[in-house]
Amino acid sequence: MRSTNAMAKLLLKRSIGTPSETTMAKRKDPAQERQRKRELWINRTMQWSGLSRAEVKTMLAQTRTQSFRLNPLVDGEVAPELLSRQVAWCPDGYEIIPEYLADYQQLADSGHGYIQNAASWLPVLALAPAAGERVLDLCAAPGGKSSHIQALASGQADLVCNDNSKPRLMKLQTNLKRLNVSAEYMLADARNLSRRQLEAFDKILLDAPCSGEGLMSLNASDAPLFDSWSVAHIRRLSDLQKRLILEAWRLLKPGGTLVYSTCTMAPEENEAVVDWLLRRQPDARLVPTDIAPLSNRVPAVQSWNDRDLTHDLGGCLRLMPGTLTEAFFVATFRKTPYVE
Ligand SMILES: C[S@@+](CC[C@H](N)C(=O)[O-])C[C@H]1O[C@@H](n2cnc3c(N)ncnc32)[C@H](O)[C@@H]1O
Repeated sequence: MRSTNAMAKLLLKRSIGTPSETTMAKRKDPAQERQRKRELWINRTMQWSGLSRAEVKTMLAQTRTQSFRLNPLVDGEVAPELLSRQVAWCPDGYEIIPEYLADYQQLADSGHGYIQNAASWLPVLALAPAAGERVLDLCAAPGGKSSHIQALASGQADLVCNDNSKPRLMKLQTNLKRLNVSAEYMLADARNLSRRQLEAFDKILLDAPCSGEGLMSLNASDAPLFDSWSVAHIRRLSDLQKRLILEAWRLLKPGGTLVYSTCTMAPEENEAVVDWLLRRQPDARLVPTDIAPLSNRVPAVQSWNDRDLTHDLGGCLRLMPGTLTEAFFVATFRKTPYVE
Protein backbone atom coordinates (compact mmCIF):
# COMPACT_ATOMS: atom_id res chain seq x y z
CA MET A 1 0.00 0.00 0.00
CA ARG A 2 1.16 3.57 -0.67
CA SER A 3 2.64 5.78 2.09
CA THR A 4 1.03 9.16 2.83
CA ASN A 5 4.05 10.97 1.34
CA ALA A 6 3.71 8.99 -1.86
CA MET A 7 -0.03 9.71 -1.87
CA ALA A 8 0.62 13.45 -1.42
CA LYS A 9 2.97 13.38 -4.43
CA LEU A 10 0.42 11.43 -6.44
CA LEU A 11 -2.29 13.91 -5.58
CA LEU A 12 -0.13 16.78 -6.78
CA LYS A 13 0.61 14.92 -10.01
CA ARG A 14 -3.05 14.17 -10.61
CA SER A 15 -3.80 17.85 -10.62
CA ILE A 16 -2.19 21.08 -11.76
CA GLY A 17 0.10 23.35 -9.74
CA THR A 18 -1.21 26.08 -7.43
CA PRO A 19 1.86 28.19 -6.69
CA SER A 20 0.09 31.27 -5.29
CA GLU A 21 -2.05 29.24 -2.89
CA THR A 22 0.93 27.14 -1.87
CA THR A 23 2.88 30.31 -1.05
CA MET A 24 -0.06 31.70 0.92
CA ALA A 25 -0.48 28.45 2.84
CA LYS A 26 3.19 28.64 3.86
CA ARG A 27 2.54 32.00 5.56
CA LYS A 28 -0.35 30.55 7.59
CA ASP A 29 -0.03 27.98 10.34
CA PRO A 30 -0.09 24.71 8.33
CA ALA A 31 -1.93 22.77 11.05
CA GLN A 32 -4.68 25.41 11.27
CA GLU A 33 -4.91 25.61 7.50
CA ARG A 34 -5.34 21.84 7.22
CA GLN A 35 -8.02 21.95 9.91
CA ARG A 36 -9.87 24.73 8.05
CA LYS A 37 -9.76 22.77 4.79
CA ARG A 38 -10.90 19.62 6.54
CA GLU A 39 -13.98 21.46 7.86
CA LEU A 40 -14.65 22.91 4.43
CA TRP A 41 -14.43 19.46 2.85
CA ILE A 42 -16.90 18.07 5.40
CA ASN A 43 -19.31 20.96 4.79
CA ARG A 44 -19.13 20.69 1.02
CA THR A 45 -19.75 16.94 1.20
CA MET A 46 -22.76 17.50 3.48
CA GLN A 47 -24.05 20.07 1.00
CA TRP A 48 -24.02 17.85 -2.11
CA SER A 49 -24.90 14.57 -0.38
CA GLY A 50 -27.63 15.75 2.02
CA LEU A 51 -26.06 13.54 4.73
CA SER A 52 -25.60 14.59 8.35
CA ARG A 53 -22.24 15.72 9.68
CA ALA A 54 -21.80 12.45 11.60
CA GLU A 55 -22.59 10.38 8.49
CA VAL A 56 -20.18 12.37 6.35
CA LYS A 57 -17.39 12.11 8.93
CA THR A 58 -17.78 8.34 9.09
CA MET A 59 -17.79 8.11 5.31
CA LEU A 60 -14.72 10.32 4.85
CA ALA A 61 -12.76 8.42 7.46
CA GLN A 62 -12.79 5.17 5.45
CA THR A 63 -9.41 3.86 4.42
CA ARG A 64 -8.85 3.06 0.76
CA THR A 65 -8.25 -0.51 -0.27
CA GLN A 66 -6.38 -1.83 -3.30
CA SER A 67 -7.49 -4.59 -5.63
CA PHE A 68 -5.75 -6.81 -8.15
CA ARG A 69 -6.50 -7.13 -11.86
CA LEU A 70 -5.03 -10.21 -13.49
CA ASN A 71 -3.42 -9.35 -16.83
CA PRO A 72 -4.54 -11.79 -19.57
CA LEU A 73 -1.84 -10.46 -21.92
CA VAL A 74 0.96 -12.20 -19.99
CA ASP A 75 0.82 -16.00 -19.61
CA GLY A 76 1.64 -17.69 -16.33
CA GLU A 77 0.38 -19.72 -13.40
CA VAL A 78 -1.15 -17.89 -10.44
CA ALA A 79 -1.69 -19.59 -7.08
CA PRO A 80 -5.49 -20.19 -6.79
CA GLU A 81 -5.65 -18.83 -3.22
CA LEU A 82 -4.73 -15.36 -4.56
CA LEU A 83 -7.76 -15.44 -6.86
CA SER A 84 -10.32 -16.70 -4.36
CA ARG A 85 -12.17 -13.37 -3.95
CA GLN A 86 -13.31 -12.47 -7.44
CA VAL A 87 -15.13 -9.17 -7.92
CA ALA A 88 -18.32 -10.28 -9.69
CA TRP A 89 -18.65 -7.26 -11.97
CA CYS A 90 -15.09 -7.17 -13.34
CA PRO A 91 -13.57 -9.96 -15.42
CA ASP A 92 -10.10 -10.72 -13.97
CA GLY A 93 -10.76 -8.41 -10.99
CA TYR A 94 -9.98 -9.67 -7.47
CA GLU A 95 -9.99 -8.36 -3.92
CA ILE A 96 -6.53 -8.41 -2.38
CA ILE A 97 -6.24 -10.80 0.55
CA PRO A 98 -3.95 -8.84 2.92
CA GLU A 99 -1.87 -11.81 4.06
CA TYR A 100 -0.75 -12.41 0.42
CA LEU A 101 0.07 -8.78 -0.36
CA ALA A 102 3.71 -9.56 -1.19
CA ASP A 103 2.60 -12.24 -3.68
CA TYR A 104 0.26 -9.83 -5.49
CA GLN A 105 3.11 -7.32 -5.62
CA GLN A 106 5.39 -9.94 -7.13
CA LEU A 107 2.78 -10.73 -9.79
CA ALA A 108 2.42 -7.02 -10.52
CA ASP A 109 6.22 -6.61 -10.80
CA SER A 110 6.38 -9.40 -13.38
CA GLY A 111 3.48 -8.03 -15.50
CA HIS A 112 0.98 -10.71 -14.51
CA GLY A 113 -1.34 -8.16 -12.97
CA TYR A 114 -1.93 -4.58 -11.87
CA ILE A 115 -2.72 -3.26 -8.38
CA GLN A 116 -5.38 -0.53 -8.43
CA ASN A 117 -8.41 0.60 -6.52
CA ALA A 118 -11.37 -1.31 -7.99
CA ALA A 119 -13.13 1.97 -8.89
CA SER A 120 -10.50 2.46 -11.61
CA TRP A 121 -11.98 -0.50 -13.46
CA LEU A 122 -15.35 1.20 -13.89
CA PRO A 123 -14.54 3.76 -16.65
CA VAL A 124 -12.82 1.10 -18.75
CA LEU A 125 -15.76 -1.29 -18.36
CA ALA A 126 -18.06 1.59 -19.39
CA LEU A 127 -15.90 2.21 -22.46
CA ALA A 128 -16.14 -1.50 -23.41
CA PRO A 129 -13.26 -1.45 -25.91
CA ALA A 130 -13.16 -4.22 -28.51
CA ALA A 131 -10.59 -5.69 -30.88
CA GLY A 132 -10.09 -3.59 -34.00
CA GLU A 133 -11.39 -0.35 -32.50
CA ARG A 134 -9.36 2.84 -32.59
CA VAL A 135 -9.12 3.97 -28.95
CA LEU A 136 -7.58 7.08 -27.40
CA ASP A 137 -6.59 7.32 -23.73
CA LEU A 138 -6.27 11.09 -23.52
CA CYS A 139 -4.66 11.48 -20.07
CA ALA A 140 -3.13 8.04 -19.82
CA ALA A 141 -0.16 7.97 -17.45
CA PRO A 142 0.85 5.85 -15.58
CA GLY A 143 -1.26 3.47 -17.68
CA GLY A 144 -3.47 1.47 -15.32
CA LYS A 145 -6.53 2.10 -17.48
CA SER A 146 -4.64 1.83 -20.80
CA SER A 147 -3.52 -1.67 -19.90
CA HIS A 148 -7.08 -2.57 -18.90
CA ILE A 149 -8.32 -1.26 -22.29
CA GLN A 150 -6.02 -3.65 -24.17
CA ALA A 151 -6.87 -6.49 -21.75
CA LEU A 152 -10.59 -6.14 -22.63
CA ALA A 153 -9.76 -5.89 -26.34
CA SER A 154 -7.57 -9.03 -26.21
CA GLY A 155 -4.57 -6.84 -27.09
CA GLN A 156 -6.15 -6.06 -30.49
CA ALA A 157 -7.29 -2.43 -30.08
CA ASP A 158 -5.52 0.28 -32.05
CA LEU A 159 -4.63 2.15 -28.84
CA VAL A 160 -3.09 5.64 -28.59
CA CYS A 161 -1.89 6.73 -25.12
CA ASN A 162 -1.36 10.44 -24.58
CA ASP A 163 -0.11 12.45 -21.62
CA ASN A 164 1.44 15.91 -21.31
CA SER A 165 4.06 14.89 -18.75
CA LYS A 166 7.24 13.38 -20.17
CA PRO A 167 8.33 11.58 -16.97
CA ARG A 168 4.85 10.16 -16.52
CA LEU A 169 4.67 9.08 -20.15
CA MET A 170 8.02 7.31 -19.72
CA LYS A 171 6.63 5.53 -16.66
CA LEU A 172 3.58 4.52 -18.72
CA GLN A 173 5.85 3.10 -21.45
CA THR A 174 7.74 1.03 -18.87
CA ASN A 175 4.47 -0.20 -17.36
CA LEU A 176 2.88 -1.12 -20.69
CA LYS A 177 6.01 -2.93 -21.84
CA ARG A 178 5.99 -5.02 -18.66
CA LEU A 179 2.29 -5.77 -19.16
CA ASN A 180 2.79 -6.75 -22.84
CA VAL A 181 0.43 -3.99 -24.01
CA SER A 182 0.91 -2.59 -27.49
CA ALA A 183 0.15 1.09 -27.98
CA GLU A 184 1.24 4.22 -29.76
CA TYR A 185 2.55 6.93 -27.41
CA MET A 186 1.92 10.64 -27.70
CA LEU A 187 3.36 13.46 -25.58
CA ALA A 188 0.97 16.37 -26.04
CA ASP A 189 -1.19 18.88 -24.23
CA ALA A 190 -4.62 17.35 -24.77
CA ARG A 191 -6.19 20.82 -24.86
CA ASN A 192 -4.78 21.29 -28.37
CA LEU A 193 -4.78 17.78 -29.74
CA SER A 194 -7.37 18.28 -32.50
CA ARG A 195 -4.94 20.66 -34.24
CA ARG A 196 -2.83 17.62 -35.05
CA GLN A 197 -5.47 16.36 -37.48
CA LEU A 198 -5.45 12.83 -36.08
CA GLU A 199 -7.74 10.21 -37.58
CA ALA A 200 -10.93 10.19 -35.46
CA PHE A 201 -11.43 7.60 -32.72
CA ASP A 202 -14.19 5.02 -32.08
CA LYS A 203 -13.71 5.31 -28.32
CA ILE A 204 -12.03 7.86 -26.06
CA LEU A 205 -11.29 7.70 -22.34
CA LEU A 206 -10.78 11.01 -20.55
CA ASP A 207 -9.63 10.10 -17.04
CA ALA A 208 -9.17 13.73 -16.17
CA PRO A 209 -6.64 15.44 -13.90
CA CYS A 210 -8.70 16.24 -10.79
CA SER A 211 -8.56 17.31 -7.15
CA GLY A 212 -8.29 13.66 -6.10
CA GLU A 213 -10.73 13.67 -3.17
CA GLY A 214 -11.06 9.92 -3.62
CA LEU A 215 -7.47 9.59 -2.43
CA MET A 216 -8.06 11.71 0.69
CA SER A 217 -9.52 10.82 4.07
CA LEU A 218 -10.05 12.48 7.44
CA ASN A 219 -7.50 10.19 9.09
CA ALA A 220 -4.62 12.07 10.71
CA SER A 221 -2.06 10.33 8.50
CA ASP A 222 -3.70 11.83 5.39
CA ALA A 223 -3.56 15.44 6.67
CA PRO A 224 -0.73 16.47 4.23
CA LEU A 225 -3.04 15.62 1.33
CA PHE A 226 -5.09 18.74 2.15
CA ASP A 227 -2.18 21.05 1.29
CA SER A 228 -2.87 20.92 -2.45
CA TRP A 229 -6.68 20.95 -2.07
CA SER A 230 -8.78 24.11 -2.23
CA VAL A 231 -11.99 25.38 -3.80
CA ALA A 232 -10.03 27.78 -6.04
CA HIS A 233 -8.02 24.80 -7.30
CA ILE A 234 -11.23 22.82 -7.91
CA ARG A 235 -12.55 25.71 -10.04
CA ARG A 236 -9.35 25.89 -12.08
CA LEU A 237 -9.50 22.15 -12.63
CA SER A 238 -13.12 22.41 -13.73
CA ASP A 239 -12.08 24.92 -16.43
CA LEU A 240 -9.28 22.60 -17.56
CA GLN A 241 -11.63 19.59 -17.61
CA LYS A 242 -14.11 21.50 -19.83
CA ARG A 243 -11.35 22.26 -22.31
CA LEU A 244 -10.21 18.64 -22.27
CA ILE A 245 -13.68 17.16 -22.73
CA LEU A 246 -14.42 19.50 -25.63
CA GLU A 247 -11.19 18.51 -27.32
CA ALA A 248 -12.01 14.83 -26.74
CA TRP A 249 -15.40 15.43 -28.36
CA ARG A 250 -13.78 16.87 -31.47
CA LEU A 251 -11.60 13.77 -31.80
CA LEU A 252 -14.52 11.32 -31.54
CA LYS A 253 -16.16 9.67 -34.59
CA PRO A 254 -19.91 10.10 -35.06
CA GLY A 255 -21.45 7.08 -33.33
CA GLY A 256 -18.41 6.85 -31.04
CA THR A 257 -18.26 6.61 -27.24
CA LEU A 258 -16.54 8.99 -24.81
CA VAL A 259 -16.08 8.10 -21.14
CA TYR A 260 -15.26 10.90 -18.68
CA SER A 261 -14.01 9.97 -15.21
CA THR A 262 -12.48 11.52 -12.11
CA CYS A 263 -11.53 10.26 -8.67
CA THR A 264 -13.08 13.22 -6.93
CA MET A 265 -16.48 14.12 -5.47
CA ALA A 266 -16.45 17.86 -6.25
CA PRO A 267 -19.60 18.61 -8.35
CA GLU A 268 -17.71 21.35 -10.26
CA GLU A 269 -15.42 18.65 -11.67
CA ASN A 270 -18.13 16.09 -12.34
CA GLU A 271 -21.78 16.86 -13.11
CA ALA A 272 -20.98 20.51 -13.97
CA VAL A 273 -18.51 19.37 -16.66
CA VAL A 274 -21.00 16.82 -18.04
CA ASP A 275 -23.81 19.39 -18.10
CA TRP A 276 -21.52 21.91 -19.80
CA LEU A 277 -20.70 19.47 -22.63
CA LEU A 278 -24.37 18.53 -23.09
CA ARG A 279 -25.32 22.20 -23.32
CA ARG A 280 -22.56 22.98 -25.78
CA GLN A 281 -22.77 19.94 -28.04
CA PRO A 282 -26.25 19.06 -29.39
CA ASP A 283 -24.78 15.83 -30.80
CA ALA A 284 -23.82 14.61 -27.28
CA ARG A 285 -26.07 12.04 -25.56
CA LEU A 286 -25.50 10.88 -22.01
CA VAL A 287 -25.99 7.11 -21.75
CA PRO A 288 -26.48 5.41 -18.38
CA THR A 289 -23.34 4.05 -16.72
CA ASP A 290 -24.74 0.94 -15.05
CA ILE A 291 -21.96 -1.55 -14.51
CA ALA A 292 -22.77 -3.11 -11.17
CA PRO A 293 -25.11 -2.64 -8.21
CA LEU A 294 -22.57 -0.84 -5.99
CA SER A 295 -23.72 -0.14 -2.44
CA ASN A 296 -21.79 3.17 -2.29
CA ARG A 297 -23.45 4.57 -5.45
CA VAL A 298 -25.44 7.77 -4.83
CA PRO A 299 -27.61 9.86 -7.17
CA ALA A 300 -25.87 12.37 -9.41
CA VAL A 301 -25.88 15.97 -8.20
CA GLN A 302 -28.57 18.00 -10.05
CA SER A 303 -28.09 21.33 -8.34
CA TRP A 304 -25.02 22.97 -6.80
CA ASN A 305 -24.48 26.32 -5.08
CA ASP A 306 -28.12 27.30 -5.72
CA ARG A 307 -27.79 26.62 -9.45
CA ASP A 308 -29.74 23.87 -11.18
CA LEU A 309 -27.86 21.90 -13.80
CA THR A 310 -29.90 21.85 -16.99
CA HIS A 311 -29.82 18.21 -18.06
CA ASP A 312 -31.02 15.02 -16.39
CA LEU A 313 -27.72 13.64 -15.10
CA GLY A 314 -29.21 10.51 -13.52
CA GLY A 315 -27.16 8.29 -15.84
CA CYS A 316 -23.86 9.40 -14.29
CA LEU A 317 -22.17 6.99 -11.89
CA ARG A 318 -21.28 8.83 -8.67
CA LEU A 319 -19.59 6.89 -5.86
CA MET A 320 -18.98 7.81 -2.23
CA PRO A 321 -15.93 6.29 -0.55
CA GLY A 322 -16.74 2.61 0.02
CA THR A 323 -15.06 -0.54 1.28
CA LEU A 324 -14.07 -1.83 -2.20
CA THR A 325 -14.30 1.26 -4.41
CA GLU A 326 -13.04 4.76 -3.58
CA ALA A 327 -14.98 7.94 -4.37
CA PHE A 328 -15.27 8.08 -8.14
CA PHE A 329 -17.31 9.54 -10.98
CA VAL A 330 -18.00 8.16 -14.46
CA ALA A 331 -20.10 9.57 -17.29
CA THR A 332 -20.60 7.88 -20.67
CA PHE A 333 -21.52 9.82 -23.83
CA ARG A 334 -22.44 8.74 -27.32
CA LYS A 335 -21.94 11.02 -30.30
CA THR A 336 -25.10 10.94 -32.34
CA PRO A 337 -24.44 10.43 -36.05
CA TYR A 338 -26.96 13.15 -36.99
CA VAL A 339 -27.95 16.33 -35.20
CA GLU A 340 -31.73 16.93 -35.32
C1 LIG B 1 -5.82 11.03 -13.29
S1 LIG B 1 -4.26 10.98 -14.04
C2 LIG B 1 -4.47 9.69 -15.23
C3 LIG B 1 -4.36 8.29 -14.66
C4 LIG B 1 -4.37 7.24 -15.76
N1 LIG B 1 -5.56 7.34 -16.57
C5 LIG B 1 -4.28 5.83 -15.19
O1 LIG B 1 -5.31 5.20 -14.98
O2 LIG B 1 -3.17 5.34 -14.97
C6 LIG B 1 -4.32 12.42 -15.02
C7 LIG B 1 -3.19 12.55 -16.01
O3 LIG B 1 -3.47 13.70 -16.82
C8 LIG B 1 -2.24 14.26 -17.22
N2 LIG B 1 -2.55 15.63 -17.69
C9 LIG B 1 -2.79 16.75 -16.96
N3 LIG B 1 -3.04 17.79 -17.77
C10 LIG B 1 -2.97 17.32 -19.04
C11 LIG B 1 -3.11 17.92 -20.33
N4 LIG B 1 -3.40 19.23 -20.46
N5 LIG B 1 -2.93 17.15 -21.43
C12 LIG B 1 -2.64 15.83 -21.30
N6 LIG B 1 -2.49 15.22 -20.12
C13 LIG B 1 -2.66 15.95 -19.00
C14 LIG B 1 -1.37 14.15 -15.98
O4 LIG B 1 0.00 14.20 -16.33
C15 LIG B 1 -1.81 12.79 -15.41
O5 LIG B 1 -0.93 11.77 -15.84
